[in-house]
Amino acid sequence: MKRYIALLLTIALFSVCLYACQKPQEKTVTEAPVTMDMPEIVDTHSDDGRTVVGISMPDRLLERWNKDGSYLRAQFEKRGCEVLLRYANNLIDTQADDIMDMIREGADLLVIAAVDGAALTEVLNIAKSVNVAVIAYDRLLMDSDVVDYYVSFDNYKVGVLQAQYIIRILGLANTETPKNIELVTGDPVDNNARYFYNGAMDTLKPFFDSKKLVSLSGQVNFYETSTAQWSSDIAQQRLQIILNSYYPENVKLDAVLCANDSTALGAVRALETDYKSKNPVAVTGQDADIANIYNIINGTQGMTVFKALREESIVTVALSMALLDGKRPAEDLINESDWDFKCSFNTTDYDNGKKIVSSYLLEPIVVTADNIESQLFDTGYYRRNSAGLIYSAK
Ligand code: BGC
Repeated sequence: MKRYIALLLTIALFSVCLYACQKPQEKTVTEAPVTMDMPEIVDTHSDDGRTVVGISMPDRLLERWNKDGSYLRAQFEKRGCEVLLRYANNLIDTQADDIMDMIREGADLLVIAAVDGAALTEVLNIAKSVNVAVIAYDRLLMDSDVVDYYVSFDNYKVGVLQAQYIIRILGLANTETPKNIELVTGDPVDNNARYFYNGAMDTLKPFFDSKKLVSLSGQVNFYETSTAQWSSDIAQQRLQIILNSYYPENVKLDAVLCANDSTALGAVRALETDYKSKNPVAVTGQDADIANIYNIINGTQGMTVFKALREESIVTVALSMALLDGKRPAEDLINESDWDFKCSFNTTDYDNGKKIVSSYLLEPIVVTADNIESQLFDTGYYRRNSAGLIYSAK
């Protein structure tokens, strides 16, 4: 991997200073403990023959991040990289510490799905100061000018797809009867949550404006409908309160727009325990998690948005290898790859407050009971064992 000459000179200077106590080929981490305020790391990322990739995922609770972690690890290892993979347990400080550790352990490149997109500015600056490349994975890293690239899905479109499903299933285009909806949006510190919300609300706005859609709780703005940590329990509790306060017997709820599958699980549980009418309620989701696939099959959840994580990891690894090779890929990464999926390059829409981050965006897909077999089972993404239980095949 090519390193800049200026950097090598700097490293050489440091190396001379540290010569007395260190072997030349060793990773040069100072003895003093590293604190976030006074990073005492010198460049540990010179060409030492290793290519080390640090992967920082937000948590292990959600099925998806486990898959992301293992897809990424497998592909990086196949290309001869050493992989450091950490899960932050949804804790901002843990994630910053994880990243710091990975820098100290010699990571050349970091792939980060942030717990809180705006909370890592300091540690990212440290990464950049020792020449570590940074890819924001799935969630944009905010307030930082050192993010090299962003790889994700078209997150605005995820919200659009959820809203379009509700419009279709409630027949909003052809009815004068108002329908009731409640919103369960995502974690406000996750930058994606706002994209999902905006995509959905821009699409539903004409129906809210014409009063064809009504939220009896009156809770429609992003913050009041948000769900800390995307927690199923928090989503469940909030919807239970809403059901008991605004939906007594004979007051129908028609839809719950849930931003993802973990919130949809909570919503479905709340509907099962605290909803007094018998009509089916259209519930949306995102991720195609196994528990939600069962719910789509049994009819308690209407749809999910499937995002092919394997493809997200393929793009990330291709981009990483190019970056480690000293390239700054653009459209050419897509044009020169033999991917059998759609991916677009965007240089205009992902402003993180400090810069517009060049982004590779994949296409989300709607999954309902009608196409679940063709999209998820026929493709081999999920399989059923002899007892009919669903498991993840790849
Ligand atoms: C991801 C979703 C996920 C959610 C909760 C979002 O940033 O894009 O796929 O469901 O986080 O982890």
